[in-house]
Amino acid sequence: SAAEKDGHDWFMRKEIFEQPRAVADSLLGRMSPEGLLQLDEVRLSDDELREIDKIIIIACGTSFYAGMVAKYAIEHWCRIPVEVELASEFRYRDPILNYSTLVVAISQSGETADTLQAIRHARVQRSKVLAICNTNGSTIPRESDAVIYTHAGPEIGVASTKGFLTQLVACYLLALYLAQVKGTRYGDEVHQVVRQLEAVPAQIQDVLDRAEDVYALAREYVDASSVLFLGRHAGYPVALEGALKLKELAYLHAEGFAAGELKHGPIALVDDGLPVLCIVPSRGRDHLHDKMVSGIQEVRARGARTICLAEVGDTAIEPYADVLFRLPKVPTLLQPLVATVPLQLFACELATAKGHDVDQPRNLAKSVTVE
Ligand code: AGP
Repeated sequence: SAAEKDGHDWFMRKEIFEQPRAVADSLLGRMSPEGLLQLDEVRLSDDELREIDKIIIIACGTSFYAGMVAKYAIEHWCRIPVEVELASEFRYRDPILNYSTLVVAISQSGETADTLQAIRHARVQRSKVLAICNTNGSTIPRESDAVIYTHAGPEIGVASTKGFLTQLVACYLLALYLAQVKGTRYGDEVHQVVRQLEAVPAQIQDVLDRAEDVYALAREYVDASSVLFLGRHAGYPVALEGALKLKELAYLHAEGFAAGELKHGPIALVDDGLPVLCIVPSRGRDHLHDKMVSGIQEVRARGARTICLAEVGDTAIEPYADVLFRLPKVPTLLQPLVATVPLQLFACELATAKGHDVDQPRNLAKSVTVE
């Protein structure tokens, strides 16, 4: 009923709008009075954590994209090598695992069969397993050595939204926690990053307050036959997530690419009027932003319609953006928390305009309990 959906037409839309609260809840109570990050569901001792020399993240679908973002965060802050692997592929490549490997399983439902089988395989090889999960007492956390619960609340829409954003929060917290335990030079920056994270719920709200702009744009594309998404660094998994949402809900061909990879093939797809959604990195010291801008310039020169998500004050993008949606100012590594939101709104509205059942897309189940 409409009441269950808080007046929204779909659970998905309700869940998109719950994200400021969900993210805030996932951050709640994580700092000790002494200013140290604490994750009390991590039942691994500091000594055990210091022993870890490799991390393998396993997950499926949207949760896999959260894992891709986690790799950037963990390697940057902790200097521990991270591999991210699709759970369904993991067991079959004979992965190299031992007691000093930490396997991180990310699953909203905690019941995904591919992910469950992967952690069972890891435990047989004596690896430690940490689950990032939204469902208390589900199978994956029960079979893991440690768990960080996300506090998104129940997610009903088949398309994951608040589940994804809170997984990102858990991944950042895990990365910061490992940095603190290992005492890397970023250990001292934990405070600063936590403060930036605490500002995010209000920044997500700022994006949601402009939902109508995204809806109007989405309705222009009911007849589109293909949409491309471009990102770099932590924006690359966001591009993949934006494309997956369109496939799932609007049954529309959509693909996400790392912008630097364009010239190695995908740019051949670009022709007149093709909508290309671009996630522009924050302006840092590292040229990432400028490289992205030149990639956007390239596709536009070949006729693409460029729809750019770029932070407030980014004027360099203006000449190359056919449509510009402003993102709040967030460092590139944390940008997925705000950049994903307009893409969720876009897919939800486009699917609604096409007359699809957004909460129950064809051929899909909320949790996939068969391999
Ligand atoms: C996302 O919108 C999906 N419906 C799907 O990709 C999902 O993320 C995947 O099946 C993994 O589910 P889990 O997080 O519950 O393990």
